Amino acid sequence: MNQPLSIQPQRLRDSIEELGRIGSYLDDSSGLRGVNRLALTAADGEGRRHVVAKMRALGMSVTIDRIGNVYARRSGRDDSLAPVMMGSHIDSVPTAGKFDGCLGVLGALEIIHTLEDAQRVTRRPLVVAFFTDEEGSRFGTDMLGSAVATGRLPLAEAYAYKDRAGLSVESELRKIGFLGDVEEKLTPPHAYLECHIEQGPVLRSQNLDIGVVTGVQSISWHELSIVGRSAHAGTTPMELRADASVAASRINLRLRDMARSGKYGAQMRATMGAMVPVPGLVNIIPGRMTVTVDLRNPDDNLMRSAEADIIAFYDQVAHEEGVQITWRQTARTDCVQFDPRIMDQIDAAAAHRGLSRMRIVSGAGHDAQEMAHLTRAAMVFVPGEWNGISHNPREFSTPEQCANGVNVLLDVLLAIAEEP
Ligand code: GLV
Ligand code: MN
Ligand code: MN
Repeated sequence: MNQPLSIQPQRLRDSIEELGRIGSYLDDSSGLRGVNRLALTAADGEGRRHVVAKMRALGMSVTIDRIGNVYARRSGRDDSLAPVMMGSHIDSVPTAGKFDGCLGVLGALEIIHTLEDAQRVTRRPLVVAFFTDEEGSRFGTDMLGSAVATGRLPLAEAYAYKDRAGLSVESELRKIGFLGDVEEKLTPPHAYLECHIEQGPVLRSQNLDIGVVTGVQSISWHELSIVGRSAHAGTTPMELRADASVAASRINLRLRDMARSGKYGAQMRATMGAMVPVPGLVNIIPGRMTVTVDLRNPDDNLMRSAEADIIAFYDQVAHEEGVQITWRQTARTDCVQFDPRIMDQIDAAAAHRGLSRMRIVSGAGHDAQEMAHLTRAAMVFVPGEWNGISHNPREFSTPEQCANGVNVLLDVLLAIAEEP
């Protein structure tokens, strides 16, 4: 059997560790070191400069677009052909591990390094991308950079998103030196490939090496402002209260009941990830709460039905608790299907390397789902230890697990990059 070209697992591991030191913090509850590189913070800026330097060291030419997406290009034998793009993100949630997104970007650069070592030039040019604010933790909407690049989100709207301190995407991009001048609308690449950790328990629990990702489930985010009446906790009779925190709690419990009911499918997920009371003090009834709702569903119709029901419940709670509830949609994407031909190629490449695999729907959002609106897109998942825990400092995939995914990506890339 022909020995396929392979990456260097230890070099990839070192590169993940190195980037993971930027924005690193000590997590009190676990005693572990986590990563906090929230989008467009100084730490994100430092991470970006680190990765751009790696791109340049590999001889790639780097461009930055007007939403801060970074593209590094390696010439092909025929530079007139559309490139094959690989990518992901390097921003993180504030309580992250080292792998979410970074495996996709650093794995793609490890592939370029491997091609350089082998002096192998593909027919089509190759591009390695990292997109701005995939996580959405800071500015409140996810896949911001890739949504702008693929035309779902207008640039002006993206610039105007603000964090809790009132700082805008545009001003923060400028501050860290990543407000580029290149047109943000991407010319469709020939294909887009992304390797990512699964961020869930499925592959690891079945002892599988590779997830052939069939698509991404639908995502709906709401931000609610609940306005009641602040008053004294000791003197105000229970029946005279307009308690914003009680209203928020009822909505949170309703979300869990809906997910457990089965009415919206067994795979519905619902989370109230932020509950911010004002004034937030022990002896004052909260007069205001800002809360978020995150709904996920692999079925578009069931998602729409869950959205309609929870929105109706907001009105019911407002009425029953004597509070005002206003809400806005902060993110919304339908289910996305990846390219069936590339899925077959991923499957075949994994089989050729003797790796076990299964088809899997992504529970998390990814830049690849935006790119799928522009070109043929696909993803490779690798398993994670500790039940695949993610958005947590304990997130961990072994060097071998990471290398398996990136090697499969390399095989598929080499096939697609030779296509006329
Ligand atoms: C991105 O990590 C998401 O929220 O799915
Ligand atoms: Mn990610
Ligand atoms: Mn994430």
